[in-house]
Amino acid sequence: MRHILTGLVLSSTFFACAWAGQPTHIYGVNLGSWLVLELWMLPQGWVDMGGQLCGADCSTCISTESAFAKAYPDTVDTTFAQHWDTWFTQSDVSTLKAAGINTVRIPLGYWIVEDLVDSPSESYPRGGLAYLRRGLGWLQDAGIQVILDHHALPGVQTAEQMFTGNCTTDVQFYTPYNYGRALVWTAVMTTLSHLDPDFGNVFAIEAANEPINDAAQTPDYGTFQENFVQTIRAVELTLGISVPSSKLSVSVSASVSNNFTAALIETSSSTIFSAEVQAALSEAVPIIIGIGSKYSLQTIFEASPFKQSGTPLVANFMDVNWQYNNPPNPADVAIGPQAYDNHLYYSSAGNDPTSYMINICNLPEIQADAALGNSPLWFGEWSLDTQFNATDAFLYQWADAQKLAYSKGAGWIYWNFKIETSNLTNGTARARQWSYLEGLELGFFTQDPAALHDPNVCAPYTNSTSNSTSNSTSSSTSHSTSNSTSSSVPLPIPATGYRPLLYSMFSLLSLIFL
Ligand SMILES: *[C@@H]1O[C@H](CO)[C@@H](O)[C@H](O)[C@H]1NC(C)=O
Ligand SMILES: *[C@@H]1O[C@H](CO)[C@@H](O)[C@H](O)[C@H]1NC(C)=O
Ligand SMILES: *[C@@H]1O[C@H](CO)[C@@H](O)[C@H](O)[C@H]1NC(C)=O
Ligand SMILES: *[C@@H]1O[C@H](CO)[C@@H](O)[C@H](O)[C@H]1NC(C)=O
Ligand SMILES: *[C@@H]1O[C@H](CO)[C@@H](O)[C@H](O)[C@H]1NC(C)=O
Ligand SMILES: *[C@@H]1O[C@H](CO)[C@@H](O)[C@H](O)[C@H]1NC(C)=O
Ligand SMILES: *[C@@H]1O[C@H](CO)[C@@H](O)[C@H](O)[C@H]1NC(C)=O
Ligand SMILES: *[C@@H]1O[C@H](CO)[C@@H](O)[C@H](O)[C@H]1NC(C)=O
Ligand SMILES: *[C@@H]1O[C@H](CO)[C@@H](O)[C@H](O)[C@H]1NC(C)=O
Repeated sequence: MRHILTGLVLSSTFFACAWAGQPTHIYGVNLGSWLVLELWMLPQGWVDMGGQLCGADCSTCISTESAFAKAYPDTVDTTFAQHWDTWFTQSDVSTLKAAGINTVRIPLGYWIVEDLVDSPSESYPRGGLAYLRRGLGWLQDAGIQVILDHHALPGVQTAEQMFTGNCTTDVQFYTPYNYGRALVWTAVMTTLSHLDPDFGNVFAIEAANEPINDAAQTPDYGTFQENFVQTIRAVELTLGISVPSSKLSVSVSASVSNNFTAALIETSSSTIFSAEVQAALSEAVPIIIGIGSKYSLQTIFEASPFKQSGTPLVANFMDVNWQYNNPPNPADVAIGPQAYDNHLYYSSAGNDPTSYMINICNLPEIQADAALGNSPLWFGEWSLDTQFNATDAFLYQWADAQKLAYSKGAGWIYWNFKIETSNLTNGTARARQWSYLEGLELGFFTQDPAALHDPNVCAPYTNSTSNSTSNSTSSSTSHSTSNSTSSSVPLPIPATGYRPLLYSMFSLLSLIFL
């Protein structure tokens, strides 16, 4: 059959349509340390599995999934199966649902598509896809929508980070070979998202978590972004899902229209797509066939009329302001719905609570991104962490103020849904500022995630209301400590003042292991 595309014009209206039936505001949590394990969230659990804690330099011991797989080649799969089975459970889904969470972001490694791992030079636990499918099924039953986040990329996207799965200074992601592997991963995940019933609530795929901030060190990353979008749309066009672009169409012959993998081979020879995308599609075919046979999806992948009513996925990128040094702008390569992600951590932002509040209450990120077409923007990672020992009173405000700031964009996704409680995390000390469920228990987060303890929490810290102290705390239900500072806060922050306050996991980890 032939899919003729009408020349729909890409617009924000389309984005709204694409999200029809989905929550308009994201209230989310990350399922961190589930399918990409970062030991700082479960140090005791990691030691119990056979891992090690090596302090500041994570390359010197068994601190990552790849180091673990090398150390325990015979037992790695069963050890991780136990972890996948217990770290995130159906009961967690019920708790998140009861807490009003409508979205989860799931960090994934490239190795969940096992054929992409170059054995024996690379080794990772195998079997994660079965647990992902099961978890997605639970989330779907609970009505929670999902972002699949390519969190740990082939060749690692940044140096000396446990979240890449391989703690090394040898960063190889920004090369044709590894860009290619990431595109194959994208083709497989797009296919599963549209055809595997368990993936029914996946609405977005994120291209690459936290690439190096300096764009001078990420050669050809813009080309990868373009190919990432094309890969998603090529799979969708093959399925007959209409993609709002007059630029792209593919034709699939009637003889293969009941065999998606065969149709994908036809699409892979379509020169409307770049050579990299064509190669990725054709490499994805045998992998998809293998997954089909392993998980009893052959009939769907190879012998069923294509579903044509699907909605295009949202292509998700870290926002253009994540990078500096003339970064590529992902908005330039949009074909169909797209959304942007930024991560804010204040773990090393100094010892002055007031400056934290001034900063978050005047956050320029959403407007700065929108000016470059990076809208909608959600905040895909944040926490309550502070460089100082925060009081409970501050954390009530800090939670409110961040939620308020991020809700001016498309919403927020907390890091993390949970944190281990053990001697190695000083009991609940780490969970208090890093676990959504613990924060909810302690009351920092409201039971309704859309609510705030104090809707005027920012009033003392913004110009517009800075001299109207009369009603700034009147509707506060509790926990507000703000009135004493309301008239004396120095404003404003410099236009670029937020940058030095932003830290990724790198500075966070050096802090934790100090
Ligand atoms: C980790 O990175 C190093 C350096 O690039 C590489 O030699 C090694 O194969 C990688 N290990 C895995 C498991 O990917
Ligand atoms: C579907 O197409 C693929 C790729 O050409 C082929 O390997 C497979 O045997 C086909 N499956 C069926 C059921 O015809
Ligand atoms: C936080 O408290 C601990 C002890 O509980 C103390 O050692 C540390 O110096 C404090 N940090 C700051 C920044 O005050
Ligand atoms: C935690 O620390 C306390 C006090 O040091 C000790 O008594 C207890 O056995 C430890 N618990 C575990 C599980 O190691
Ligand atoms: C945990 O508590 C111990 C002793 O009270 C302290 O030395 C250490 O810095 C604390 N660690 C963290 C991560 O808070
Ligand atoms: C602050 O109050 C003064 C006097 O009441 C008023 O003239 C001024 O416009 C106010 N400024 C702001 C930013 O509201
Ligand atoms: C302060 O009170 C005025 C008048 O009652 C109201 O219009 C305004 O919205 C209030 N400001 C805040 C920040 O609640
Ligand atoms: C808030 O202001 C009131 C009245 O000015 C004062 O009595 C109270 O102590 C202040 N609260 C705090 C926490 O400073
Ligand atoms: C606050 O007011 C100053 C001038 O008084 C202005 O330059 C600054 O941009 C304002 N800041 C905000 C966040 O509105």
